[in-house]
Amino acid sequence: MIWEACFQIIQLWQGAIMSKFWDEKFNRDGFTYGTRPNAFLESRSSLLKPGGSVLVPGDGEGRNGVWLAQQGLNVTAVDSSKVGQGKARGLAEDSSVVMQFQLADLLTWDWPTAAFDHVVSIFFHLHTDDRPRLHAAMLAALKPGGILIMEAFRPEQLALSSGGPRVSELLFDKDCLAQDFAVAELLELENASPILDEGPLHQGLAATVRLVARRR
Ligand SMILES: C[S@@+](CC[C@H](N)C(=O)[O-])C[C@H]1O[C@@H](n2cnc3c(N)ncnc32)[C@H](O)[C@@H]1O
Repeated sequence: MIWEACFQIIQLWQGAIMSKFWDEKFNRDGFTYGTRPNAFLESRSSLLKPGGSVLVPGDGEGRNGVWLAQQGLNVTAVDSSKVGQGKARGLAEDSSVVMQFQLADLLTWDWPTAAFDHVVSIFFHLHTDDRPRLHAAMLAALKPGGILIMEAFRPEQLALSSGGPRVSELLFDKDCLAQDFAVAELLELENASPILDEGPLHQGLAATVRLVARRR
């Protein structure tokens, strides 16, 4: 009982640190990662179910959520940064699209099950201690047959200056994703070396890992 209460306090404290970190990063003129969608996501538009539902964890300033809404999807964007989500709301309004927004720490969020046709996780980097549990939650949030689309930085990104976390515990690789999504049907799992052009903080050659998985 005491241990559970301590654990909850630690989680709240960690969540507050994380949202402060991202609030400060997003508290600038313009959009940190631009207003265009992630190129890998855009290239996989044929996988999106017309009129389907999509959960976008860690949608930040909203570039991907807004683009998904423009494709006709019913978008739920969840992020713990109040500043980022404020900008995402503005971008949605300026783009004349309607989206659902939730301001929440995804580490403690009450993840829905079998609720979405898609989950889109773009550069939503999770610590190795949290990653398997949250990736399982993303998979469980999909309806059977639903599709997850993910791009994240891999450890080789540490040698590059085009953005991303600077600690290896926050980076993903093919092995860890194959384990996290072992119960899913892996449609794609590849390393990529894109030239990023996503706002001021994602510019230049990058080392990423890309995943498309279908819930069985
Ligand atoms: C690198 S940014 C990526 C933003 C967006 N996906 C994009 O590609 O433009 C990571 C985002 O994850 C959010 N995030 C990180 N940890 C989170 C958590 N525990 N709960 C909710 N959001 C979180 C941050 O607030 C930030 O918006």
